[in-house]
Amino acid sequence: MKKDITYLHTKKQEQQPITVLTCYDYPTACLQDEAGIDIVFVGDSVGTNILGYKNETEVTMADMQHHLKAVRRGVTDAYLLVDMPYAADRDVKQAVVNAHAFLSDGADGVKLEGGIEKVPIVTALTEQNIEVCAHIGHNPQIHGTKAATHGKTFAKAKQLIEAAKALAAAGAKLIVLEKITEEVSQIITETVSIPTIGIGAGRYCDGQVLVINDILGIGPPFKHAKRYQDYNHLTFEAICQYREEVANRTFPTDANTSHIPPDKLERVQKWLRSER
Ligand code: KIV
Repeated sequence: MKKDITYLHTKKQEQQPITVLTCYDYPTACLQDEAGIDIVFVGDSVGTNILGYKNETEVTMADMQHHLKAVRRGVTDAYLLVDMPYAADRDVKQAVVNAHAFLSDGADGVKLEGGIEKVPIVTALTEQNIEVCAHIGHNPQIHGTKAATHGKTFAKAKQLIEAAKALAAAGAKLIVLEKITEEVSQIITETVSIPTIGIGAGRYCDGQVLVINDILGIGPPFKHAKRYQDYNHLTFEAICQYREEVANRTFPTDANTSHIPPDKLERVQKWLRSER
């Protein structure tokens, strides 16, 4: 069953947790879809996790579209969300053009970073029937990769709650809460009618999102994430074993090999002898 925004809103109403994972490629998209992940999310974290960029500000529309198209080919049921990269939503006109480009590539919705200052962009996209996911708290495009926790003072808590309410009122259909204190995330979740998706935002959001590399154990560990695999180690071991087996000729074996029938081989050898 294709999961649309109504399905995700119903999950909030029925207090069913919404599952979200970042995804950057076709094979992982197939696995996430088959596993029943609700939202497969092409995040701009593709820059640091896959493309070797130093931070999110290096990611371009072309990068995002390349990965979005690969992920689209692997997703059947999940809601497919894509991130607006740095400056792609710098003004209303750019945001509308770029969001339409993503929809043409098969996205179901677009996510953009920022607080109350993004209300005009969310309003404009909503007027064009584009489904928007807002993203408040830690915003890597604005604050850089080092994430401090947001919502620890009265002023910051108020600012976050007001931003969430304004973005929801402007038409945002979902909102990511990144690195926000659990208490403030819970207040926002209980205040807005749209689903909240937390990352490092505690236990009481309507859903959770993590970066696929972090759950697989690719790259450094983070407090907010949980490693379900040690892919770095497994991948390195496989590479070393392959290198060793090629070097000492234990790979390939006969099982990895194809043969020409003996009578045909004999003909080839006979022909070669006649050529000498
Ligand atoms: O790009 C990203 O990985 C994000 C996180 C919130 C998951 O935006």
